[in-house]
Amino acid sequence: MSEALVLNEQETAEILAAAGHYPNKSAASVEALKIVQKHRGWVSDEVLKSVAGLLDMSPDELDGVATFYNLVFRRPVGENVILCCDSVSCWMLGADRIRERLSQRLGIGLGETTADGRYTLLPIVCLGACDRAPVLMVGDELYEDVDESKIDEFLKRYG
Ligand code: FES
Repeated sequence: MSEALVLNEQETAEILAAAGHYPNKSAASVEALKIVQKHRGWVSDEVLKSVAGLLDMSPDELDGVATFYNLVFRRPVGENVILCCDSVSCWMLGADRIRERLSQRLGIGLGETTADGRYTLLPIVCLGACDRAPVLMVGDELYEDVDESKIDEFLKRYG
C-alpha cells in the first residue's frame, strides 16, 4: 500500500479527537468519514480500512455507514460536487429540466466528472427542503427554488 493512501497525522489526530467524545468510538464513524472527505475529497477503500481500524470497526461495518450516508463519496469526485435532488417534490417541480441544463452546460451526465476535474454531478434523495423545491446542493450550500434559466448564473459562483 502506498503511503499516500493511508491516513496522515492530522487526519488521525482529528479522527481520534472526534472518537474521544463518545464511549464507543464507532459513534464517530460519520464524523470520521467527513474528516477524511474534507482532506481528500473522497474516501478510498484503503483509507476506509485505516479509519475502521482507528474506530475499532470492521471495514465492512464502516462501509455500511458510508453507503447509508450518501454525502460520503466513495469514488473520486470533482472539486465541486453538484447534488441534484431527484425525489418527488423536486421532480414534480422541474428537477429533470435543471439536471438536463446542468448536463448540457458541463458536458457530463449524472455520476460523471468534467475532464478538468472541476465538477461532478450526482443524484441525491430528498434534502428535506421540499417546500423550496427544486433544490441543488454544493458542499454545505443549499440552493432553493432553482430555475433552469439561472443555471449559468449558478455556475458562475464556482467558475
Ligand atoms: Fe427535493 Fe425534498 S424532494 S428536497
